[in-house]
Amino acid sequence: MPMSQQIIFTNDIVETLEELHDQLKPSKTVFFTDDNVDEKVLGPLISPALKGGPLEDALVISKDEGEMYKTVGEVCNVWDFFQEEGLTRSSLVINIGGGVVTDMGGFAAACFKRGMRFINVPTTILCAVDAAIGGKTGVNHNGLKNEIGVFREAEAVIVSTSTFYTLPMMERLSGFAEMIKHAMLSSSEDFDEVLDNSVTDEDFDEDVWLPLLKKSIEVKRRIVAADPTESGLRKALNLGHTAGHAFESLAMRRNRLIPHGFAVAWGLVVAVVLSKMRNWLPSNILYRLASYVRTNYDVFHITCDDYPQLLDFMHHDKKNFDTESVRFTLLKGLGRPEIDCQVSDDEICAALDVYRDLFGI
Ligand SMILES: NC(=O)c1ccc[n+]([C@@H]2O[C@H](COP(=O)([O-])OP(=O)(O)OC[C@H]3O[C@@H](n4cnc5c(N)ncnc54)[C@H](O)[C@@H]3O)[C@@H](O)[C@H]2O)c1
Ligand SMILES: [Zn+2]
Repeated sequence: MPMSQQIIFTNDIVETLEELHDQLKPSKTVFFTDDNVDEKVLGPLISPALKGGPLEDALVISKDEGEMYKTVGEVCNVWDFFQEEGLTRSSLVINIGGGVVTDMGGFAAACFKRGMRFINVPTTILCAVDAAIGGKTGVNHNGLKNEIGVFREAEAVIVSTSTFYTLPMMERLSGFAEMIKHAMLSSSEDFDEVLDNSVTDEDFDEDVWLPLLKKSIEVKRRIVAADPTESGLRKALNLGHTAGHAFESLAMRRNRLIPHGFAVAWGLVVAVVLSKMRNWLPSNILYRLASYVRTNYDVFHITCDDYPQLLDFMHHDKKNFDTESVRFTLLKGLGRPEIDCQVSDDEICAALDVYRDLFGI
């Protein structure tokens, strides 16, 4: 799968969509979104500006917001709509929303008539730097995340900060954790630069944020280009996710939902502790990261009684193909990821002890 995807950084989404529409000349165009984004972004910011232009008559289909609607059943409703409206293989779907919308809309478009073109307009930070790019589309099935899906890239991804103002603070922080991860996979300069910015500020100055988003996306793009179907190198992107997924699963057991990026932020701390235990990273990086995470992401409470459960989750993580040992992506330095590091249960427990010390729990 070649990385042909165009990524356009602009704060004029409508003008960019109109230009793309002129190039792609679709038979029909559909906006796919969720109710939240429809109310906060599409309705107030995009639709009025479409008036009088080539996309004035574009159709809109909106689904209920949330991960629980990322299902095959919901996609069937979307396909019903496509059929009723007479869409053809030369039609175009514009997915505008967070990762749930781009995953589902990309999948719906990729399968309909064996493949319609689609454009992603991410409206969450997480979607902009992660979900919207790289060609993975899909839905959850029988309680398993992203169980059904295909690899298919969007024709274009339009990245704009203009839609982030209405994002709830938790969602901002959640996406920002993936930006921290990308910076750690990139270089110490990028790590410093990202942590010097605060995603909690009211303002999304495009002169600051578009270049930061661009750098972050470039990290994912580079890694995906080297391993488009996830057979090796792409595991670098799993940094922070082995412990992170275990925290997410434990939270679910406790009937508490935590935003994915929060779990990643805590998971990054565990990955850095493990890297430091191997003398691969100096302590100042660990302390800088831990203090940033503690200040902005609060803390996930665990005691030693939770260790067996956390270890069990890590051994059964779907990205951990070897259930005998847990394989982490660690860092030999900032910008130097090491995939498939085998880590023993004792090491993991020692790292969780350090995590608890760092967070004062
Ligand atoms: N395909 C991939 O490579 C990939 C990578 C990472 C994550 N994902 C998927 O992405 C999903 C998570 O993405 P997400 O965090 O963007 O979730 P999401 O799409 O559920 O969006 C989070 C919430 O924010 C709302 N929202 C979105 N934009 C908004 C805006 N501008 N203003 C106000 N509210 C807004 C949404 O309605 C939703 O309630 C998961 O399903 C995950 O599996 C996919
Ligand atoms: Zn993630």
